[in-house]
Amino acid sequence: MEAYIADWLHLGLRWLHVVAAITWVGSSFYFNRIDRSFRPPEPPVDRVSGQLWSIHGGSIYNYSRYPTGPGYVPENLKWSKWESVGTWVSGALLLAVVYWWGAGINLVTGPDGLSPAVAILVSAGSMVLAWVVYDIMCRTIPSDHVLSVAVAAFMGLLLWIFLQIFSGKAAFLHVGIAMATLMAGNVWFVILPGQKKMLRAIKDGTIDRFDVGADAKRRNYHSNYLTLPIVFAMIASHFPMTYGSAYAWLGFMLISAAGVAVRHFFNTMHHGHAQARWLVIAALISVAAIVLLAPPRLTPPANGQAAAVDTGRIASIIEARCAACHAAKPSMPGFNAPPNGLVLDSLQAAAAHAQKIRQMTIDAPIMPPGNLTGMSDEERAALAGWLAAGAPTK
Ligand code: HEC
Repeated sequence: MEAYIADWLHLGLRWLHVVAAITWVGSSFYFNRIDRSFRPPEPPVDRVSGQLWSIHGGSIYNYSRYPTGPGYVPENLKWSKWESVGTWVSGALLLAVVYWWGAGINLVTGPDGLSPAVAILVSAGSMVLAWVVYDIMCRTIPSDHVLSVAVAAFMGLLLWIFLQIFSGKAAFLHVGIAMATLMAGNVWFVILPGQKKMLRAIKDGTIDRFDVGADAKRRNYHSNYLTLPIVFAMIASHFPMTYGSAYAWLGFMLISAAGVAVRHFFNTMHHGHAQARWLVIAALISVAAIVLLAPPRLTPPANGQAAAVDTGRIASIIEARCAACHAAKPSMPGFNAPPNGLVLDSLQAAAAHAQKIRQMTIDAPIMPPGNLTGMSDEERAALAGWLAAGAPTK
């Protein structure tokens, strides 16, 4: 029953999280597009720095940008606050249900790594740390370029640390969470307070001397470029070929750079002078990452040895190390149904999924998760030999 409730919490929160993230990232993309599409009004309009006509859903819209407001505080003024909170909070709850409640399976690397309790503390602490370090960097590094490189290097360092202490998928997820925390922190601790000050300045009549400050602009800029790497981190944690690779770190950094390049292309396009070279750069970097992350070839046993694969032994390894979870009725507590519907109750069943088994056990030691069933290196090598021999069943 507990596993069934956990599954529903997981599914429900994931649904909420995706919907909230659509509203947040969607409004971020939307306002970026509008903001970069503004052109000076013809003829000039008092206090308006840009205008944009747009057609959608059967109506034509006219937007005007008032950098210092229209001279009064409009009564019907819409804020963008709750999208970021909704996404962050639903994400944090999802993290708690999947990676803290299920820490022994999803968060830790195995018996030699962090204990589940310590891993949970590190997981929670890393969000606070990410924000504090980023905030200090923003306040102390004056150059925009140096700051951008420093933020990217900091994210790279965090991912490297996460890859040492968490399971691969948890590592990817946590660097995504760190980036999303920066974005949410920027909204709540910098941008919204700045907007409140701006409204006060409008009321006080000091708006013409008001400056949102370079810091708020830079943080907006970071948030803009972080969106694609964040979404990649979240979904790549479902793809073992990425986080399980020996080159997971470099692969992630390359794909993130490609995401930043794509975002930059869209920014130039909204400005009205699209620079297609950024798409080409993104495509080249992505191809490099795909080649880099390709699984290594399994060396087949030398001639004659193929026949020597002890299939009886392989069957008992799978039975002992996999079937507790991958069974029609799993005996492992916390499992309601075979994970991803994968039942490994016979050598034939395992042979039918040889490709995926290779990916999850040999290319990277992802299965058994947290090595809960205590698979030895020697057993893993035997399994690799069986797979390299073409997964014979007799
Ligand atoms: C403690 C429970 C547990 C044990 C033991 C376990 N697995 Fe898994 N397995 C899982 C979970 C949970 C998933 C889903 C992981 C995910 O989606 O990221 C999974 C996913 C997989 C997948 C991917 C299936 C797919 O369709 O994507 C393969 C392949 C796999 N396991 C093979 C194995 C093999 C081989 C063993 C034994 C060496 C094993 N597992 C032992 C829990 C377990």
